[in-house]
Amino acid sequence: MSQKTCLITGATSGIGRAAAMALARQGFRVIIVARNKDKAEATCRRIRQVTRNEAVSWYLCDLSLLRDVQALASQLRNDLDSLDVLINNAGARFLRHQLTPEGIELTLATNHLGHFVLTLSLLDLLERSAEARIINVASGAHYGADGVIENILRPEEYDGKKQYARSKLANVLFTYALAERLKDRQSRITVNAADPGGVATNFARNNGLIPWLKHRLYYLSKRQLLSPARGAEIVVYLASSPEVRGATGKYFFEKKERRSSAASYDIENQRKLWELSQALSGLGH
Ligand SMILES: NC(=O)c1ccc[n+]([C@@H]2O[C@H](COP(=O)([O-])OP(=O)(O)OC[C@H]3O[C@@H](n4cnc5c(N)ncnc54)[C@H](OP(=O)(O)O)[C@@H]3O)[C@@H](O)[C@H]2O)c1
Repeated sequence: MSQKTCLITGATSGIGRAAAMALARQGFRVIIVARNKDKAEATCRRIRQVTRNEAVSWYLCDLSLLRDVQALASQLRNDLDSLDVLINNAGARFLRHQLTPEGIELTLATNHLGHFVLTLSLLDLLERSAEARIINVASGAHYGADGVIENILRPEEYDGKKQYARSKLANVLFTYALAERLKDRQSRITVNAADPGGVATNFARNNGLIPWLKHRLYYLSKRQLLSPARGAEIVVYLASSPEVRGATGKYFFEKKERRSSAASYDIENQRKLWELSQALSGLGH
């Protein structure tokens, strides 16, 4: 059997790193997408060392920059014959309002828009796999998002937690909208959203020590703080388990399908987000 190829974003830390490790252990050829060369090299070296799988490599890309994502996609289309698994995992919360050099709010750019462009740009490669899977790493935070999707672009007043929740709702809306589009074109590609639960990672560390500790304490107080390896299990399950072969357009928590928020099933919201993402990225799909 030929080796399957998995591409994963945000694998230099936390859930992504643990998922990359587990998939390399299963024998996947693992490609990690990272924004920092030293971290990328160190992560690949460590995964090779631990798993004894040499087929672990990296590409550089800042997911919040659309020109970076487009360059990455064209490099991948040159270098790969096909792609079996795409894991859209990189993500962050920003307590301060910031714009990317391309003028897009940073949470939206990092958590949704970069992955929107990456995914649509790699569909041809994924179509060449006999059984391709896309996994979008969402979050239970999406339940708290206001359902007015336009707010993701122009919130009346920036609030980092609210904007993060909207960006995670965007992950779920994108999952459902893409699943329908793929079904319409009779594609074999499946796409699902993974909710890892509360996980002890570097998440929120970019905002300083206190917000990082608060994030951990919140889940600790609920006795729900998981290790990265445990948090990554749902991602690995969706990427490789035969139990979910053919499952698409679903939200998974603890290896079970779960209902996501009412706002995520709203077709109008899905359509609006798609159009907004197209307009911002210039993609015509
Ligand atoms: N931790 C939780 O409790 C939790 C709960 C629900 C959902 N999630 C989701 O899980 C995913 C992974 O988060 P985590 O908890 O593992 O956090 P983490 O430890 O901070 O890891 C985040 C990863 O994303 C990368 N990244 C961030 N911004 C990037 C950018 N602009 N370009 C490229 N890579 C970028 C980071 O790279 P660097 O190493 O260079 O920073 C890192 O590899 C996120 O989507 C998050 O929303 C986390």
